[in-house]
Amino acid sequence: MYKTSKSTTKIPLLVPDLPTTEELLPWLKCIDDNKWYSNFGPLVQEFESKLTEILNSNLTTVSSGTSALELSLLALDIPVGSKVLLPAFTFPATVTAVKHAGLQPIFTDVAADNWLLNPSIARQIRKKISYDVVIPVTTFGHPQPVNEWDKFYSDTGIKVLIDAASSFGVQPIGKNCIITFSFHATKPFGIGEGGLVIANSIEFIQQVRKLSNFGFENGVIIKSGYNGKLSEYHAAVGLAQLERWEQIIQRRKKIWDIYQDYLDKNTLQNMPKNYIPAILAVKFNTKKSIDYQFQTRRWYYPPLYKHPAFTDIPKFGPETENDLPITENLSLLGIPFHTSLTEDDIIYICDSLI
Ligand SMILES: Cc1ncc(COP(=O)(O)O)c(C=O)c1O
Repeated sequence: MYKTSKSTTKIPLLVPDLPTTEELLPWLKCIDDNKWYSNFGPLVQEFESKLTEILNSNLTTVSSGTSALELSLLALDIPVGSKVLLPAFTFPATVTAVKHAGLQPIFTDVAADNWLLNPSIARQIRKKISYDVVIPVTTFGHPQPVNEWDKFYSDTGIKVLIDAASSFGVQPIGKNCIITFSFHATKPFGIGEGGLVIANSIEFIQQVRKLSNFGFENGVIIKSGYNGKLSEYHAAVGLAQLERWEQIIQRRKKIWDIYQDYLDKNTLQNMPKNYIPAILAVKFNTKKSIDYQFQTRRWYYPPLYKHPAFTDIPKFGPETENDLPITENLSLLGIPFHTSLTEDDIIYICDSLI
């Protein structure tokens, strides 16, 4: 347990809200009875069927948000080296998945108002270069306009894979887009490690599922996949977590309401009005170096094109090649946002930011 702001221990940035041992026990006993531990066992099937009821879409679970992205890219079955447009302002997993799938990433910029790669930017880039897939990200939990992306696909034929890692429960499901989620412990719907792929096409989902099991089809490998399956233990956490999901949403909403009461109006610029963020990031003056009594993180700094592993990836901005001015100048400070915060913690954090 962390201590309050008055103690010497800093208020943590992220605290998972996962089931307790007692809440997990009935599901773990099912595993004891079934003696089935992985390979699409009964708990994975039950977890998937409950998720299908909630999301009303074809889906398959996988081992992480990263494998959800990578397996989806593999299942698209496009030629090696095909070009994939993605924002430079995202978590590295978005680009590592593209590289591991044997495709060519291209970085682009995000919008100034919500820090997302949106359909308008994707259309502007398309006038300059061709690409085969676009990966819009739901940065900080901000949902992507799925209907606009569905139209983008209908108009251009470019495949849209929405990396909605932190947006389970927030990102609407459309018709033409493939959507991936992460169930990492620090996500709003966390189960430890896990991921989900959603698509309208049942054939596509079946292909992702096969690839998550090495690519086996009738005992032979037709296309190489790898081991990206969700274990029965993670499905047990998922089933226990589904029973707590409504309460988690209420707890997160309460924290967000308190923040909105106390955060300075200027800081709240660009902040969501109609959904609960997954991560809270505020604008930050880089010249200041303050030792806050709460943990912070510079999300996502440096931009991906400055990471040594990604310096050779081409960049195309909506205005000029090589120039991503919004990403380049974004300076955001992640501040604590989780259900273990008290109102006193939030007041203390907001007062410290002034
Ligand atoms: C935008 C984004 N994509 C992908 C991932 C990877 O998800 P996972 O950690 O479940 O592999 C993350 C993880 O934080 C993320 O933030």
